Order: sequence, then C-alpha cells, then structure tokens
Amino acid sequence: RKIRLVEVRSELAAGTRGASLGIDAMKVASLGKHSDFFLRFQPIRVKNENDLLFQEPKFKNAKYGEGVFTVLKRVCDAVSDLRAEGLFPIVLAGDHSTAAGTIAGIKKADPDKRLGAIWIDAHADFHSPYTTPSGNMHGMPLAMATATDNIECEQNDIEEETEALWERIKSIGMRGPKMKPEDIVFIGVRDTEPEEDYLIKKHGIKNFTTAEVTEKGVQQVSKEAMEILKDCDQIYISFDVDSLDTSISVGTGTPVPEGLTKEQALELNIELIKDKRVCCWEIVEVNPTLDTENRMANNAFEILEATTASLIQNF
Ligand code: ARG
Ligand code: MN
Ligand code: MN
Ligand code: MN
Repeated sequence: RKIRLVEVRSELAAGTRGASLGIDAMKVASLGKHSDFFLRFQPIRVKNENDLLFQEPKFKNAKYGEGVFTVLKRVCDAVSDLRAEGLFPIVLAGDHSTAAGTIAGIKKADPDKRLGAIWIDAHADFHSPYTTPSGNMHGMPLAMATATDNIECEQNDIEEETEALWERIKSIGMRGPKMKPEDIVFIGVRDTEPEEDYLIKKHGIKNFTTAEVTEKGVQQVSKEAMEILKDCDQIYISFDVDSLDTSISVGTGTPVPEGLTKEQALELNIELIKDKRVCCWEIVEVNPTLDTENRMANNAFEILEATTASLIQNF
C-alpha cells in the first residue's frame, strides 16, 4: 500500500475563522527535523471555495452550504480515485465537514464493502440542518455520511433551499447512507447537544471517554473499538484535534476541556492504524490563528508523523 496526502484548505464549515491555515501550520512544524515529510507522499491539493467567506452566508442552518457541497464533492472524487488505485489517503483538512466527502469517496470506490469509522473528537458532529445549534456544517459530517436527519427531535425552522441542499450533500458519491450509525465508534466525545445524545443512545454508539482511555489504557481501548467494528470490511479514522485537552493548546475553533493528552492521542492513532482494515486517516481543525507559538500544529504534526510511520511499519 502506498500513501498519498490529500490537502483540503477549507474552513467554510467552521464557525471560527482560520482553520484553512492549519495544513500550512503543520508544514511549518515539520521544518527542520522532518523537512522531508511533505515531499515524500506527493500531496494532492483539493481546491477550496474560501472566497465565499467574504460574503454573508446564505443558509442560516447550513452556512456556506453551497461551497461546502462543492468542496465535499471534490474531496469525494479525490479520495475515491486514490482508493480505486489501491492507495492509502491521509487527508489533511481544515474544518471537519470534509470527513463526509472522504467517507463518500471511500464508499464510492468500494460500494459493496461495509465501512466503519473511529471518530476521535470532543464532538459527535451528528447534527443536521434540522437540529444544528449553530448552522456550522463541521458539526454535521456524521449525519451526512449516515443520511440522518433526526426529525424525531425538536426542529429548527428550515428553508426549502436548505432542505434541497441537504439532500444533495447526503447524495455525494452515492445516494443514501454510506455507513450505519452502529458502525461508528467515538473516542473523547464530551461536548454534545441533546439531539446528538438522542442518536447516540438510539443507535447504541459507544463513546470511550477520556476517563475510560486513562483507566483502561490505549491498548485496551483500541482493542475494544476494533471489536465493536468486527463486522466491518474497511475502517476510516477521523482525528479532530479538539479531542486533545485544552492544556495542550486552544489552537482549534471549538476547544473543550478534559480531553486526551498528547501521548494518549499519539498512541491511540499509532495503535488503531495497525489494523489492516484501516483504509484512510484524516486530521482536521488545526487553527494557528487562535494559537501561540504554533503549539497545536506542532502537536498535530507530531501525531501525523508518528501515525504515518506506524502505518508504513505495519503495511
Ligand atoms: N455541536 C456544535 C455545533 O454543531 C459544535 C460542533 C463542532 N464540530 C467540530 N468539528 N469542531 O455547532
Ligand atoms: Mn470537534
Ligand atoms: Mn456544545
Ligand atoms: Mn469534529
């Protein structure tokens, strides 16, 4: 298996500005000891739509949704082309909405394989325009991927155009769900809204809390996570850096206290990626404009580098 980096400098779906600079901040972090990292894997650049940020967002429950749709479609095509060639995409992205494009791309290349996801994040990212508290679409990728509207809960007032856009977004790559909600495993989730709690409970989705990672240790948690996904043929790992504790850095748009230590996140990713079914890894939400001395990007790059090394070692 050969690795290719996919760079997605989009931040349209975040509520705070600056996440599109995260990739370049990680590149800065690589300079010196690991200068060769970004030369080794022939990065592919996915074009962004960040110029839209100079206008007011159109859809209040799906901000910059037209641009998000375009970027996700591009991510889907890039990832599905790589997967069709048997390559391993490592996606470096700004806001987390891209994960829905990545998942659509994996599924498009292998529609008959059952796909699971390990979602390392402070957030569940399970909202739809019907339930979002913010309108920020980085809170929605798992609803996009599982085609979940969650109309059982209290609903936002949603415009017809938003509804049409949401249908198009859920159909990227292929119509309907790319994954079952049961095939999601959360690690580090600790800031959810009631509508997300409802879905987590309804589908019996396991969340390994920070406390559980600390108690059981990384090896045990990784083992249990993979056990939950035992019937999946392929596994996608999504690493949102806000899963990390705020003592490490607040260089991310939606920081939440009581997160993972850098060591825990590092070891988790190193361990999880050893499973031969893992077919894609993604890192998102590094925002150097909210940081001092590039701390988050330094930590994120360290995790990126170590995870990639573990992948290569276990090929
Ligand atoms: N649940 C909140 C919202 O929908 C926060 C989502 C944060 N997501 C992220 N990928 N950082 O606005
Ligand atoms: Mn998050
Ligand atoms: Mn919240
Ligand atoms: Mn996230």
